[in-house]
Amino acid sequence: MILEDYIKKLATQGILKTVRKPISKDLEIAGVLKALEPTPVLFQSLKESAYRVVGNLFCTKTQIADYFGIRPDQMIPTLASAIEHRSPPEKAKTAPCQEVVESTVDLNQLPILMHNVIDGGPYISSAVVVSADPQYGQNLDFHRAMQIGKNHMVVRVVSGRDFHKFLEKNGEVDVAFCIGNTPEVLVAAATSVETGVDELHIANALKPIKVTKAKSVDLMIPADCEFVLEGRVFQKERHSEGPFIDLTETVDVVRQEPVFEVKKITHRKTAIWQALLPGRLEHKILMGMPREPTVYKKVKERGVEVLDTSITPGGASWLHVAVKIRKKSPDDGLKAIEGAFAGHTSAKHVWVYDEDIDIYNEQEREWAMATRFQGDKSLHVKAREPGSSLDPSAEPGTKMTTKIGFDCTKALETKGKGFEKAEFPKVDLKRFLED
Ligand SMILES: Cc1cc2nc3c(=O)[nH]c(=O)nc-3n(C[C@H](O)[C@H](O)[C@H](O)COP(=O)(O)O)c2cc1C
Repeated sequence: MILEDYIKKLATQGILKTVRKPISKDLEIAGVLKALEPTPVLFQSLKESAYRVVGNLFCTKTQIADYFGIRPDQMIPTLASAIEHRSPPEKAKTAPCQEVVESTVDLNQLPILMHNVIDGGPYISSAVVVSADPQYGQNLDFHRAMQIGKNHMVVRVVSGRDFHKFLEKNGEVDVAFCIGNTPEVLVAAATSVETGVDELHIANALKPIKVTKAKSVDLMIPADCEFVLEGRVFQKERHSEGPFIDLTETVDVVRQEPVFEVKKITHRKTAIWQALLPGRLEHKILMGMPREPTVYKKVKERGVEVLDTSITPGGASWLHVAVKIRKKSPDDGLKAIEGAFAGHTSAKHVWVYDEDIDIYNEQEREWAMATRFQGDKSLHVKAREPGSSLDPSAEPGTKMTTKIGFDCTKALETKGKGFEKAEFPKVDLKRFLED
């Protein structure tokens, strides 16, 4: 789906805020988006660019579920099913994202935002990066990219990502940075599936898409995206990247990262630039949510009846996992903890709850821990495991960390007081209160 059509729909529903006054791409747009989060905002007039900018479109699970026309609790099964039943997208000869093929490359014409005063430069933060490898075929990843010239950027490539593998293997890799995507592409790109799976097939299973061949590189790209930056990333050519805010809302260090030479820019005639605030809600939901089905699957594989999983926002939507199970055997809690760590290797702390606990409610989760957890029996510590490079408290360089599982499920046999919350009588208030 074309992003602009979805934006129009949000405007008709009265959900979109429109800023008509001229605004700067340097700090002002990011400031307004942060202040209005999670309200979607369209910026009609930019001081430095001819293009419009939109942001805060998909900050919550509800906003993403609304796009698909499903309930938020249907997101995990929907995504799990799309990963399993992926299908090749239809190929289109002409595509909206190639309505305009720029004759020269000048990144200064684009509304590449300066998000924060501490940033090393203007950054693209919402790009879905299409790349390919002769053995594995196509892959989709997210990579932030800092502008360092008229036609050069520097790309943050975390080791272990498929794109990192492609770069290590091939030295130079052709890419298409696709900006302005709807959730089937965004969510699919954020999944971590085995190398060799083209995530565009997951996107197509979520909601049918069309793909088209990029103009100057041999890659199939989402036909409906707004902008495409085609070019090549060089593993050995390095440039300082950062500082920039990462997922944990802390400031990332400056590293020497691979350079991206932009060779061609294509876009829709009335293209809209998609902004995405680093470390904020949209970044968090896109990082965390695609890990929930894999946690679900790994807990289920251990023979536990798993009811729901949540990568919780308070844990930067990355480091903390809550799992809801129907406990049938005394070691189900421990098995669920092990499954969750296997399903999300970056997780640092995992909590397991019974079916009566609302895992989206912080207070209920704390209540379960307060009334059902015993430190000597229900705490599972895994010392010195590889964790997340995003965790400022993990060992720098090695990302070694201590992982802890908290089994907050009640004992199957009650020996003393019961574990259930006592119910108060249910009354029809209309019988007792005046209007
Ligand atoms: C909004 C967003 C920004 C991201 N930025 C980066 C980044 O700059 N560098 C990086 O290596 N990974 C980044 N990631 C994470 C990966 O691209 C993502 O987890 C990817 O799905 C890994 O897929 P893979 O297993 O196919 O490599 C980002 C993810 C999201 C959702």
